[in-house]
Amino acid sequence: MENFRIGKDATLNLRMGITYSDDQTPEEVHPTSAKDGQSLIDQVIAATGPKAHPRLAQIMPSLVRHLHDFAREVNLTVPEWKAAVDMLNECGQISNDRRNETQLLCDILGLESLVDEITSNLLASSNAGTPSAVLGPFYRYNAPLLPNGSSIVKNLTPETPWFSQAIADSAYITGRVLSTGGRPIPGAIVDTWLAAPNGLYEQQDESQTDMNLRGRFKTDQDGRFAFYALRPTSYPIPFDGPAGRFLTLLDRNPNRPGHIHFVVSAPRHRPLTTQIFDSRDKYLTEDAVFAVKDELVVKFLPHKGDSKARWYLEYDFVLSREN
Ligand code: BEZ
Ligand code: FE
Repeated sequence: MENFRIGKDATLNLRMGITYSDDQTPEEVHPTSAKDGQSLIDQVIAATGPKAHPRLAQIMPSLVRHLHDFAREVNLTVPEWKAAVDMLNECGQISNDRRNETQLLCDILGLESLVDEITSNLLASSNAGTPSAVLGPFYRYNAPLLPNGSSIVKNLTPETPWFSQAIADSAYITGRVLSTGGRPIPGAIVDTWLAAPNGLYEQQDESQTDMNLRGRFKTDQDGRFAFYALRPTSYPIPFDGPAGRFLTLLDRNPNRPGHIHFVVSAPRHRPLTTQIFDSRDKYLTEDAVFAVKDELVVKFLPHKGDSKARWYLEYDFVLSREN
């Protein structure tokens, strides 16, 4: 297991004495042939019984085939497989109600973005709604329900370490919730959350007030919501666990571009989980979790005549009907 904890400059030495030269490409590593493993795949698939859960009976043959094909293709060794098992175990051990490392691992592999896309395509009655984006591991239920026009920035004082950044990035955010036909939806709930300028969500940071930078807003008769918040800051995803070490081993960027999360819901409409991304962010094209979509990139405008905000954003969410 120690070998797995190394930094990007060290060698991942899990090959049991099987060494590849530095200039050897993966194509030159001859995989174990598919024929060798076919009867094992067939045996594993055939072991599923007649009373198996129908969805599992449908999907497991494909998972087993892909898993075995992958292991054969790369000639996976026992120590390498063991390192992966240890990593998954550690993901579980480090997870709690404030941290979800297994989800984070899926995120850096693009899996949450992929299943989000698949689910959204299956459930939407049309593609005319606002695109979805991953929920991520920092959502909290029951954020305070606040009146439109109030602020989600709590207890900001000159002693707050990121006070001047918060003032420079203070923003008034408003918009409407619409149906795909363009009709405003009164009474929709806009649930929002974002990280503080230090790159941390409140549950990651003892110094922030409970539920800081979170709130739920109900749209008015015109389908409008409005609140004060901040322009979002880019942040590295949690880096002190197995997912972070994995990124290091892959020599990958750990940063997410600045974004604000939303879950927008209304009766008879499909709930929308999404994020909007600040157009100024330098990580827009290299999001560590692959969630950016062009339609979700927004431009904050300078805001004049409001002592509570230096920036202004107008953004409408479009909900598709429930099937
Ligand atoms: C987030 O945006 O909060 C997030 C999403 C996926 C992984 C880590 C963080
Ligand atoms: Fe986030």
